[in-house]
Amino acid sequence: MADIAIDLDAEHLADSAFWTATPEHRARVFAALRNEDPVRWYPPRRSGFSRPCTEFWALTRYEDIWNASRTPSVYCSGVTIDIEEMPDELGEFYPSMINFDDPEHARMRRLVASGFTPRQIASYEPGLRAIAAEIIDQVLDKFGDGTEFDFVAEIASRLPLRAICSMLGVPDADHDLMLQWSNDAVSPDDPGVGIDGAASGLRRIADYAIELGRERLRQPTEDLTSVLMQAEVEGERLTSKEFANFFILLLSAGNETTRNATTHGLRLLTRHPDQRTIWFENFEDHAATAVEEIVRCEPLISNMCRVLTRDVEVRGVTIREGEKVALWYPSANLDETVFPDPERFDVRRPVSPQQVGYGAGGPHFCLGANLARRELVVIFDEIRRRTPQLVATGEPERVVSMALNSVRSLTASIKP
Ligand code: HEM
Repeated sequence: MADIAIDLDAEHLADSAFWTATPEHRARVFAALRNEDPVRWYPPRRSGFSRPCTEFWALTRYEDIWNASRTPSVYCSGVTIDIEEMPDELGEFYPSMINFDDPEHARMRRLVASGFTPRQIASYEPGLRAIAAEIIDQVLDKFGDGTEFDFVAEIASRLPLRAICSMLGVPDADHDLMLQWSNDAVSPDDPGVGIDGAASGLRRIADYAIELGRERLRQPTEDLTSVLMQAEVEGERLTSKEFANFFILLLSAGNETTRNATTHGLRLLTRHPDQRTIWFENFEDHAATAVEEIVRCEPLISNMCRVLTRDVEVRGVTIREGEKVALWYPSANLDETVFPDPERFDVRRPVSPQQVGYGAGGPHFCLGANLARRELVVIFDEIRRRTPQLVATGEPERVVSMALNSVRSLTASIKP
């Protein structure tokens, strides 16, 4: 792969052209970067997306991304985590845990961490299974005759949505609203949504969260909203704005990523029937490695940025205090010095060395990783049991984004 000539001067990672090219082309560019220029400077650019991108350094090797993620005193999150400029309309909703540095970050994370412990996640399992079974049964009723349907709308979006909404205490009747608003909220680069549409989605979620929070303050229940509304950080309760931003982070992180992982999973299993057979014939034995391999091959978040708190040298290149560094997870997950034959989808690939689709460790490592893994295992287990003939029948319609590896739709059918 690295041998195929790529002109790095003709590629800009923040250009929409790069994200409308084929995934194979992107993989070749990342391979060239890892081999020829693993610490590369990118100038600012009006990127073809609705927001201009600022200048940044691109780190593309696994080891460098790993080190940066685990050295937050130097690579901080508090200035920005985005390549693109954040307009005020959107920026007001984003100061939350993921954009904070310690000690604020640690304090906020402690507030919600109790909802995400392995024990807590295990306790959600029966509920997740019941929801997954219901989702697949409904699809069987509607499309069991082999009619094509949209896998994203009918299956992949359903379980993550219901899981995160139930954790937050959103009543069933409002789940579809949450889906619509959170889709808009994370799609400012989608021409059909734009900055105004995203801001409107964020505003609606924030208003909803504030109202729900008020109710839970009056009458607490067992949900995360009640925990957050009652919690005190250094003797003070979260303000309604702080709570709303927290709610937005959890809702969008909980929804978007796992939905896309499920969709990419079906596509990968359809494209590699041998791997599907290996997994489905010994489901429990390979579940942990298979769901990790789906995220390794298709990281759902393409990059996270950090800003330097002091000058550092990486591979002989000096990066100055205040400069921005983008950590490219899809490149790290294809790093041939870490993963043998990295292009191969292998449901039995060992989980160590750890793929970095959930982040490369450090304080911001994905809070929901264990929940996402559990959801993926449950949904594919129910597919295997109830609709083993379910396959993707088309190519995914991808959302053009440099931040998220999202799929708008994927046709599928249950082959009779
Ligand atoms: C396959 C699914 C998922 C993937 C690939 C994913 C990926 C990521 C990544 C790459 C990060 C940033 C790590 C870093 O900067 O070091 C992150 C952070 C985060 N994720 Fe996930 N995520 C997924 C599912 C979820 C779910 C289900 C939740 C549930 C609410 C969630 C909640 C969060 C939160 C709250 C953070 C910020 C943590 C912090 O700043 O301390 N994620 N995730």
